[in-house]
Amino acid sequence: MHKQHAANTPFLAAMQRYLAENVAPFHTPGHKLGAGVHESLRQQIGPAAFSLDLTCVPGLGDLFDKQGPIQDSQKQAAALYGADASYYLVNGTTGGIYAMLLTTVGPGEKIILPRNVHRSVIGGLILSGAIPVFVSPALDSRLQIAMNVPASSYAEAMRLHPDAKAVLLINPTYYGVVAEIAAITEQAHQCGMVVLVDEAHGPHLGFSKGLPPPALSVGADLVVQSSHKILSAMSQASLLHCRLGRIDQGRLESMLQLVQSSSPNYLLLASLEAAVAQMAEAGPQLIGRSVALATQARQRINQIDGLYCFGEDCIGQPGVAGVDATKLTVTVSGLGIGGTAAERWLRQHGKVQAELSDSHNVLFLVTLADDAASLDRLVVALARLAAEISPNGQQAANVTMPVAEIVALAALSPRDATFARRRRMSFAAAAGQIAGETVTSYPPGIPLLFPGERITAEVIAYCQALQRQGCKILGPSDPTLSTVEVVA
Ligand SMILES: Cc1ncc(COP(=O)(O)O)c(C=O)c1O
Repeated sequence: MHKQHAANTPFLAAMQRYLAENVAPFHTPGHKLGAGVHESLRQQIGPAAFSLDLTCVPGLGDLFDKQGPIQDSQKQAAALYGADASYYLVNGTTGGIYAMLLTTVGPGEKIILPRNVHRSVIGGLILSGAIPVFVSPALDSRLQIAMNVPASSYAEAMRLHPDAKAVLLINPTYYGVVAEIAAITEQAHQCGMVVLVDEAHGPHLGFSKGLPPPALSVGADLVVQSSHKILSAMSQASLLHCRLGRIDQGRLESMLQLVQSSSPNYLLLASLEAAVAQMAEAGPQLIGRSVALATQARQRINQIDGLYCFGEDCIGQPGVAGVDATKLTVTVSGLGIGGTAAERWLRQHGKVQAELSDSHNVLFLVTLADDAASLDRLVVALARLAAEISPNGQQAANVTMPVAEIVALAALSPRDATFARRRRMSFAAAAGQIAGETVTSYPPGIPLLFPGERITAEVIAYCQALQRQGCKILGPSDPTLSTVEVVA
């Protein structure tokens, strides 16, 4: 039997009580506490995991109940994060983002948001029918990555579109770059707009003074965090935090039910509860250690010829109000290679797997699970990469991100373009057409094109250059991207 932590894991305690009753389970899931599971999987993960894969029997309650052990657990998360209410999510931050948009912006209503949003935000726009007003992130020409969006660009969008209902921020970006969220939030509230934050990569921010502030602490209304990406929860387990006042809580709860399964995985919920309990017990020590380890590794990486790992030195440049030190973005273009080639080399020869690579960079995430030995392994592998890899003729410098307008409207709303009549045509010849589908480089999952956006020659050239480098393109119905669906 597992050790009891009933005080801060009320949901796990309820599951343990149910198992201790030793009832005959005539309910879902069909494997019935693991009894029916295939041997191959049982041998791999053991019977205990399956015994915790439970459902909403009396005593355990449902994710969408108003009270019960899951709600007690959520209240602890809210207290830890300083939210008025927190919700466990089993469909990742994606589900939380859908619910956030469906709660706050309806068909034809405007929302101001960065152009480099994750594809789940575009999905939320398709579901809600909202009209995106895009603000352009600052591009760093050396790193060839989108940083965050300058406050002045948000201010311009609010001035041009005072009828917008909501503003969405990314805190931080995948690469760890944060915007001036306090100033943007304050201005949005003055304009009567609610502030939604995609904090997929920031559930750890509040636990170390060495990190930028979490959005909730500077007044955001709704914040979604991928606890599974950065903390210790299992994949798909995320958190949504709500600050009451500007948000209709009843509607939010209905939308959360709309976008999530009626059979949420209880093991995921338990892992979320445990991740929150872990932060409550030792958050500052664990996250403080990750920050220290990543900071030391960054210094060592910056001593390797040909490599560069940005950090606080970038603060103050456009769109960089702060940096999350635990994300190590290593720019490899100084070696005459692209990020994708470096990622492959590191996996094959250095036995290190990165989180992602792009045209110029490879991104490594440092979390509470790391220690001095794992960081040392990374730095040693990077030093070997710099010494041993030779330029491969697909130099990163050949790939340049297209520059967008500071404030831009799409040609059609993502929803209208998704449901419009479409036709297929050669991608190379599609400049000037309106995209009918999403084209994403994955990861990071930021759409290069989304339904409703006018296709430009620069974007076509950029997508093709990424493909030549071996970056993975997801989304289009023709995975080779020789053709694309456009609005007819
Ligand atoms: C910035 C950002 N937002 C949202 C998401 C979606 O999160 P999840 O995978 O938890 O659904 C991701 C996933 O990579 C992301 O990078």
